[in-house]
Amino acid sequence: MIKPNPRFWEFFFEVYEHLPRQGPGNRSCAARALGLCSELEDSPAILDLGCGVGGQTLQLAEMTSGSIVAIDSHEPSINRLLAAVNKRGLSHRVSAIVGDMANPEQQPGSFDLIWSEGALYNIGIRNALRVCYELLRPGGYIAFTDAVWRKENPPSEVRAGFESDYPDMGSLDDDLAAIQDSGFEITGHFTMPDEAWWDDFYTPMVERIAELRRKYASDAEALAILRQLDEEPELHRRYSDYYAYEFFVAQRPLQSL
Ligand SMILES: C[S@@+](CC[C@H](N)C(=O)[O-])C[C@H]1O[C@@H](n2cnc3c(N)ncnc32)[C@H](O)[C@@H]1O
Repeated sequence: MIKPNPRFWEFFFEVYEHLPRQGPGNRSCAARALGLCSELEDSPAILDLGCGVGGQTLQLAEMTSGSIVAIDSHEPSINRLLAAVNKRGLSHRVSAIVGDMANPEQQPGSFDLIWSEGALYNIGIRNALRVCYELLRPGGYIAFTDAVWRKENPPSEVRAGFESDYPDMGSLDDDLAAIQDSGFEITGHFTMPDEAWWDDFYTPMVERIAELRRKYASDAEALAILRQLDEEPELHRRYSDYYAYEFFVAQRPLQSL
């Protein structure tokens, strides 16, 4: 097994924490997903799981008049979100806390909407859906994004790209089955367009890597790690036909089965 460079994570976070988002997503996709929650309360209690630095948390705060609890296990990301929340005067509606979504401390049945972009897979989609079902009140919604394979037999380069981060990645049908098996009723789903990969994620990532290349111009080890990080947007340019990010929206039925 190849031993990761000990400085890899230092540079990973130097790149990722400075992006508006740590995964694909944009405001118009969030608005479309929110529109699929047709019976949502006027001021919903929202839980944002794996919020990262909170790009989508802040958009949700603009698009709803609800309260938001945003959770992430990475403390520096939560600190960034807290600074943005304070700067925008949103602290009466948005709280950001360090936590593990596999073991949430929130009360069962206490949320009208659980939001999660690109994060549930970290604890296994089926496990995450079970956790979310418990945290939602009957009639509450879950809106989440997940990477799915679009074609069988992707080139080995693409498969290897996902192997370390998401080895269990399935197809669209696998996720739809997981949602239904978990007791939810699917209210809609859509594939996120290419802009959702670039606007707030890969374009700022490529710019940030270029900035760090200048900063570490005389550090060969740093440059090698930055080259490695640059492979992800490049892989997407070449092979995006093979995988997609899907936005799923589903409702916990009013009556449990
Ligand atoms: C791909 S990022 C997505 C961040 C953000 N939702 C976005 O779309 O920009 C996944 C996030 O999940 C967080 N995460 C991973 N495992 C977690 C866990 N068990 N509990 C809470 N957060 C977790 C990571 O720290 C990371 O910020």
